[in-house]
Amino acid sequence: MVFEGKNLVGVDIGTSSIKVIQLRETGKGKVHLVKYGVEPLPPQSIVDGHVMNSSAVVDALAKVFKDLKISYRDVALSISGHSVIIKKLNLPLMKREELEEQIQWEAEQHIPYEISEVEIDYNIIWENPDVGQMDVLLVAAKKEEIQDLVEVVRQARLKPAVVDIDAFAVQNVYELNYGFNPGETIALLNVGASITTVNIVQGAVSQFTRDITNGGNAITEEIQKQLQVSFEEAEAYKAGGRHNSQEMVPQEVDGIISSVVDTLAAEIQRSLDFYMATSSRSEVERIFITGGTSKIGYLRSAIERRSRVPVEPLDPFRRIIFDERHFDPGILKTQAPQATICLGLALRKQKERD
Ligand SMILES: Nc1ncnc2c1ncn2[C@@H]1O[C@H](COP(=O)(O)OP(=O)(O)OP(=O)(O)O)[C@@H](O)[C@H]1O
Ligand SMILES: [Mg+2]
Repeated sequence: MVFEGKNLVGVDIGTSSIKVIQLRETGKGKVHLVKYGVEPLPPQSIVDGHVMNSSAVVDALAKVFKDLKISYRDVALSISGHSVIIKKLNLPLMKREELEEQIQWEAEQHIPYEISEVEIDYNIIWENPDVGQMDVLLVAAKKEEIQDLVEVVRQARLKPAVVDIDAFAVQNVYELNYGFNPGETIALLNVGASITTVNIVQGAVSQFTRDITNGGNAITEEIQKQLQVSFEEAEAYKAGGRHNSQEMVPQEVDGIISSVVDTLAAEIQRSLDFYMATSSRSEVERIFITGGTSKIGYLRSAIERRSRVPVEPLDPFRRIIFDERHFDPGILKTQAPQATICLGLALRKQKERD
């Protein structure tokens, strides 16, 4: 039986902070913001998506739930980075039972880990009896990563109900706020502190995803190294640099931001090129960008220059209803890029119940 109940609490455990969002859906697709909070994490608590300092994460999680007075404990989490592998497979049309077996075989071919070490899921995204073909999206994630994440969440006395993938969380946010056009191909980018997620979607179907282990931390680290300053100082310089407010920022900062951002934009372009080279489908027509690092205006123009495709900021709160007495619209607007994945998780509901 499908449980049409409450939305789960979205919990995004990122490299720089934990984000928590609770939504309430009322009739006619109306989505209301109920709770929203962010708790910074000490540097090195999460490294490339791995939990390194679990007590820091547990404490921060417990603190946000307490501060926000959230009593509902069922949460949706997500994973990203190298532990997640998503592959689109083109297969001859086959029955569901045959597909189960074929998927096991395909997973062994395409996944660079022992099959016993991964959790496998798949989704038929296209099938055509006339040509006898089907496309299947194969998703594999390392069990160890999922278990580590689930463990810290349990220690904070929360109940992990769903484990999603960052790329799909962003896709759900886009769908809610903008809706997909059947004929259109877009790229959704989430640029965080240490991971950049690329998801190319045609119609409403993901065609290609890739997680690049690079993001805003690379800029901070370069500022730290070149100017011999602390992580905190480097973060502040970065936020005041290129196309942001210009106060008290050493002049070298703009140059450092441009050069690191150019490298990141080139990596993103390599993923777009890879998609084009391996897909018979159509070209990317628009790019939407989100994640904290997307606040650097220069990143958008660097991607636009390489891809020759318009790059727009994705507004995760575009269609979310909120009470201005409880939520400051200015703060929501500034923090929107960091909130996207968490919002996507907060859209999830309980899975099927036995
Ligand atoms: N105004 C700003 N200018 C430049 N960078 C910013 C700004 N605000 C936030 N950032 C950067 O955004 C990043 C945090 O974004 P986000 O919260 O999306 O990442 P995360 O979820 O913590 O990391 P990841 O997803 O990579 O694990 C940090 O690197 C931070 O320095
Ligand atoms: Mg993130």
